[in-house]
Amino acid sequence: MSTNLDFLLRPRSVAVIGASRSVSTVGGSILRNLLANAFAGPVFPVNSHATEVQSVRAFRSITDVPEPVDLAIVAIPAAGVVAAAKECASRGVKAMVVITAGFAEASAEGARAQAELVEIARSNGIRLVGPNCFGVVNSDPAVRLAATFGRCELRPGNVSFCSQSGALGLALLDKARELGIGVRQFVSIGNRADVSTNDLIEYWGSDAGTQTILLYAESFGRTDRFLEIASRVSREKAIVAVKSGRSAAGAKAAMSHTGALAGGDAAMDALLKQAGVIRTDTLEELFQTAQLVSTQPLPLGRRVAVVTNGGGPAIMAADACAARGLELSALRPETTAALREVLPENAAVGNPIDMIAGATARSFDAVLPLLAADPNVDAIVGLFTPTGLTEPTDVAVALARTKAYARKPVLTCIMGTDPVRSARDVLRNAGVPTYDFPESSAVALGSAVRLSEWRARRAGVAASAARPRKGPPAANKTRWLEPQEVAALFAAHAIPTALSATVKSAAEAASEASRIGFAVALKIVSPTMSHKTEVGGVRVGLEDAGEVTHAFGEIVAALERIDRRREVTAFQVQAMAPKGVELIAGVTVDPVVGSLIGFGLGGVTAELWRDVAFRVHPILRVDAEEMLDEIRGAPLLRGFRGAPAVDRAALVSVLLGLNDMVSLHPEIVELDINPLIAHAGGAVAVDGRVRVSTPPA
Ligand SMILES: Nc1ncnc2c1ncn2[C@@H]1O[C@H](COP(=O)(O)OP(=O)(O)O)[C@@H](O)[C@H]1O
Ligand SMILES: [Mg+2]
Repeated sequence: MSTNLDFLLRPRSVAVIGASRSVSTVGGSILRNLLANAFAGPVFPVNSHATEVQSVRAFRSITDVPEPVDLAIVAIPAAGVVAAAKECASRGVKAMVVITAGFAEASAEGARAQAELVEIARSNGIRLVGPNCFGVVNSDPAVRLAATFGRCELRPGNVSFCSQSGALGLALLDKARELGIGVRQFVSIGNRADVSTNDLIEYWGSDAGTQTILLYAESFGRTDRFLEIASRVSREKAIVAVKSGRSAAGAKAAMSHTGALAGGDAAMDALLKQAGVIRTDTLEELFQTAQLVSTQPLPLGRRVAVVTNGGGPAIMAADACAARGLELSALRPETTAALREVLPENAAVGNPIDMIAGATARSFDAVLPLLAADPNVDAIVGLFTPTGLTEPTDVAVALARTKAYARKPVLTCIMGTDPVRSARDVLRNAGVPTYDFPESSAVALGSAVRLSEWRARRAGVAASAARPRKGPPAANKTRWLEPQEVAALFAAHAIPTALSATVKSAAEAASEASRIGFAVALKIVSPTMSHKTEVGGVRVGLEDAGEVTHAFGEIVAALERIDRRREVTAFQVQAMAPKGVELIAGVTVDPVVGSLIGFGLGGVTAELWRDVAFRVHPILRVDAEEMLDEIRGAPLLRGFRGAPAVDRAALVSVLLGLNDMVSLHPEIVELDINPLIAHAGGAVAVDGRVRVSTPPA
């Protein structure tokens, strides 16, 4: 399937099927927008009852249009859409935008009509947007396509925007205009019968005029393709997405720790992270981030300098920076000395740099170049609270000047309402992001730093090859592997496992323990009891045969007391792992995204801390490394409070081993290594469980 969407977004001619005289109808409104924005080619209204519409000669059918038509906008009642599509096909139309609703989103009959529409489009080489959408926009001065029925004034820029919700899309276009964000192209994709979010990301990835891609998405279609395309495009352009449905409950009841920990939308989060897509929590943050990444260079690091004429806003900014993982730069001594020279004596030349209330536009002009030149500063936040001493617009001009000399991002906040509006306009027109409150600059900067770090980690790393989607085979029966099978599987993928033996009796346990070497752990093997500790089924640190025999008796007695002895099929004697950090590594299958690999803090309290990073299978080495750093407990791995650092390479190797295992064995539906005990000299699995789907009998 061709993803060339030029006929859709850069058509040479447009027909509006259902164009009406009344601008209060959808078709009439679209025609008015096309004309009012002076589309750069001919526009052909199609109307079965009128010979002219809004001063333009109209045609009864698209087949009557005497010239070639690249793009047809369809805004007629649903019943006529399929017939119109057939006519478009016979007229040689190259792209269609079906605004009309009442298809797959409405009924089974609608779904059938939609399938027919897709069939007509595909068999005639027509790219189709919609149905059930709000239209498309291209503000490129060479095109000027405003094929939508919302109020639409084009404001050219480098941000392209795809929205799964038409209504939200139009509201956001409006907001973009208010914030001075120039939108290059906009597509409301509606039911995504043909053109998808993935197609648009790919198209915009090679569109020189698009620098930033914004997405409002409820789902991401084929997620393997999304990962492949988005992670390629993210290396060059910022993709910012607000993905709704954050609170969607996990679709299945998980039987493993990893599965339980992957609830909510961990899968979607992993997918976006892996693809380098900046995910924002809210629409507001989407815009705050877009303002920054579409106008400024990405920060090279996390160190921020805050300059202000008032203490309070600077403290708020500094706190918000810390909350987003940013830090205040330690300025170079040369910078501090120079600040001393240019600022009054009672100004604070640390960071935040508080120029105090007497500061004027000149103060900003003196200080900003010093910060721009300091290599310890990765980003500058300029805050100004209007005083009677200087004009806000003059301060804005000083801040805007940074665009000419600063090779690092500058973000601003001018506190206030109406009186500072023109100051904000100065900044927006200059391409310097400005926010109503200081905290917003930290939000945007935090997002930009994440992207910058994502890119840095992938510099020189080949993008992953196309990712074959390997869902588990269709089967409704599953089983847990036996301990020996688990051990063999782990051994085959270089996952170190504590030496162990399966036994049936106390005597056998004692003799195997002597063979393995003391100290040992003794635990139950049971297909039904997944948390062995809970039923008193795990004893650790047994020092000799006597202790093993004794522990065996105690475990059996404990099980008999709760009447669950029958559920135990065997016992396991296992070498004790060296002291270390208890981690979890595992696999679970998400119904939408496929296999996920998880890594985090483990042990019997894993579900309590819920500190686990996920990635979509297959992962790269860099993904595995990121996972190690991403968990809140990461400092434990680096050696916390005098403990030695753990062997990172061993952990990365376990994660890559799991990755290969999943590639080779798509029948794995759940896998837990909990704990994986990491120490200075390696990592060892002491509790591994694997559930596989079994082919239908
Ligand atoms: N071989 C071992 N070496 C060191 N500690 C162990 C060993 N086996 C178990 N443990 C400890 O006992 C805890 C529970 O054991 P585990 O086999 O994970 O049982 P379960 O998770 O089913 O309760 C582990 O989290 C770990 O702290
Ligand atoms: Mg365990």
